[in-house]
Amino acid sequence: MEVKQPEKKQHVDLYRKIALRERLIEKAGELEGAYYVPFIGDGDIAVELYQEHKIYGADNDPERVKVAKSRLKDAEIITADCDKFPFKGQETVYSLADFDSYSYPYDSFRSFWEEAKFSSQCVLFFTDGQRQAIMRSGSYRTPDGKKVKAKTVTERRASYNFYFDKTLLPWFKEYIKPWKVVYITKYLRSASMCYWGAIIAREDKANKGKKVKGKPGKAHRNKFDTIKRNEYLELLRQGHTRGLAASLVGIHRATVSTHMKKDSEFAEAVSEAESDAIGKVENALFEAATSGNVTAIQVYLYNRNPERWADRRSIRSGGEGDKPIKTETIIQVVSENAKRLTEEIIQGKGTEQI
Ligand SMILES: C[S@@+](CC[C@H](N)C(=O)[O-])C[C@H]1O[C@@H](n2cnc3c(N)ncnc32)[C@H](O)[C@@H]1O
Repeated sequence: MEVKQPEKKQHVDLYRKIALRERLIEKAGELEGAYYVPFIGDGDIAVELYQEHKIYGADNDPERVKVAKSRLKDAEIITADCDKFPFKGQETVYSLADFDSYSYPYDSFRSFWEEAKFSSQCVLFFTDGQRQAIMRSGSYRTPDGKKVKAKTVTERRASYNFYFDKTLLPWFKEYIKPWKVVYITKYLRSASMCYWGAIIAREDKANKGKKVKGKPGKAHRNKFDTIKRNEYLELLRQGHTRGLAASLVGIHRATVSTHMKKDSEFAEAVSEAESDAIGKVENALFEAATSGNVTAIQVYLYNRNPERWADRRSIRSGGEGDKPIKTETIIQVVSENAKRLTEEIIQGKGTEQI
């Protein structure tokens, strides 16, 4: 049977979605149980990664369901609104759920969490476009379902910048209790779409003694060993602050500082990881500049070679007579342009859409 491929684009950067999932699944080790795949679409991710497991999938587009069914013969895939868990009342135990929605995955997640049964270790993936919503209109939904409107530019900026660390993550940690976050990872696309995943676990009879692959056992949980150090460095590379990275690996910030003082190689690795994160921003600036964003071009050139690329017009109007150009004036011009570019990024100019 030939199945017509629907027209609407399902993914931007499918390979990055796959890579994030592969890493986390590998880290989690063996996952016993079924996989829940709402928003299954044409089934691209499931075909690539989940075929070895029993899949329960759904999508509200019947055409896509047809395509997914044709590709995943052993899966149970239905047409349904995934904001409500569509496999209610079954005895199935899940160990993975993948909420690859267009923008708001949390209605679906909360319904799954309330209705489904899952094993003591579970892997979860989310596609979250709420920062894009903040950027465009200031209106967005927090993961508990509330609608929020950031009224002023300052509020909008704060909501945007701290969405993951101060809104989403604290809510998630609280909501899943007594499950705990064992590991978390994310990446951003176009600075606004957030793709993230977590391994969560609950210490219960069934799970006692069971370890997340590559993680230390309970007796070593607070030790800042090689595995935790690597996780910590990876989080810094992803752009997390030292404080947040420490709490994500379950270590006090002071413990990290002590290790940095004692171990110069580790201290160097920390600053390298932070430079990597800065490098990513520099790359984004470079990309914006080479795609013709005039402010980005100015900021990039000023920073590369201030003397050569100083904006003589602005500097002259800011200086006095024929006196030499002051370094502070150049810095001011650069920082004003950087500020303007940041504003533009926050307002979403030039960002891509799914
Ligand atoms: C980003 S695509 C998912 C792609 C999919 N994960 C894959 O691997 O191919 C989002 C999908 O969500 C579906 N969708 C959007 N809102 C939905 C809802 N409320 N219930 C079920 N499906 C929905 C769309 O039809 C679309 O197929």
